[in-house]
Amino acid sequence: MKQNAKQRLIFALDVDDFAAAEQWVSQLQAKVGLFKVGKQLFTKCGPQVVRMVQERGGEVFLDLKYHDIPNTVAKAAVEACKLGVKMFNVHALGGLEMMQQTVAEVDAYCAASGTSRPIMLAVTILTSSTEETLRGVGIDRPVTEMVPRLAKLAKDAGFDGVVASPKEVGLIRAACGEDFQIVTPGVRPSFAAMDDQKRVTTPTDAISAGATALVIGRPISAAADPLEAAAKILAEIEAALAR
Ligand code: C5P
Repeated sequence: MKQNAKQRLIFALDVDDFAAAEQWVSQLQAKVGLFKVGKQLFTKCGPQVVRMVQERGGEVFLDLKYHDIPNTVAKAAVEACKLGVKMFNVHALGGLEMMQQTVAEVDAYCAASGTSRPIMLAVTILTSSTEETLRGVGIDRPVTEMVPRLAKLAKDAGFDGVVASPKEVGLIRAACGEDFQIVTPGVRPSFAAMDDQKRVTTPTDAISAGATALVIGRPISAAADPLEAAAKILAEIEAALAR
């Protein structure tokens, strides 16, 4: 159960230099299963930051949210596989063909190289987007309709799950069933500040609602004792899983 809970805690490595990332990984590796490397850190440090996490015993969620023509996304995804990342993501708005080709080329690469397939996630609608944002780009549908629709599209393409707000877990479960991963940021344990997250959920509520894993940054990084904060969150995840 412990290992299980640890795999469900993803720490957002939202720093802009290699040394700081290295310190966080060394400090938190015992409590955190995956470290999320996003566009800022990857653009600054490149693949060496992925290797650094792996060398310290951590695994990587490569959060680059690929969105391009099918061939380009599929080729980028294969490069992510070559880096040995545990999880990566694309934008479901790139469409069915983009996701299908990505699954096909990743599967072919993993079969040929004898490596296990990373967990492939799709972003549905960014939680920073409102209905007004969608109307501005010509999408005249409610977010509550777009999120499950795009999640289902990702599932149909062969993706393993989505990144979503904890508030959307129910809608996505209803559309995609139990055998689908839902990774949620915007989680705030009761001991942490809200920061700029507006629609938040506690780890207990997110796991109980059916989230598979939680992306957590500042509640750990800004805590007086980050390791203790991570341990408390892990305990909360364990308790929710045991219910
Ligand atoms: O510090 P905090 O826990 O808010 O960090 C959450 C992480 O999840 C950040 O890396 C943020 O970019 C990311 N994220 C988010 N909300 C989304 C998608 C990603 O907060 N909808």
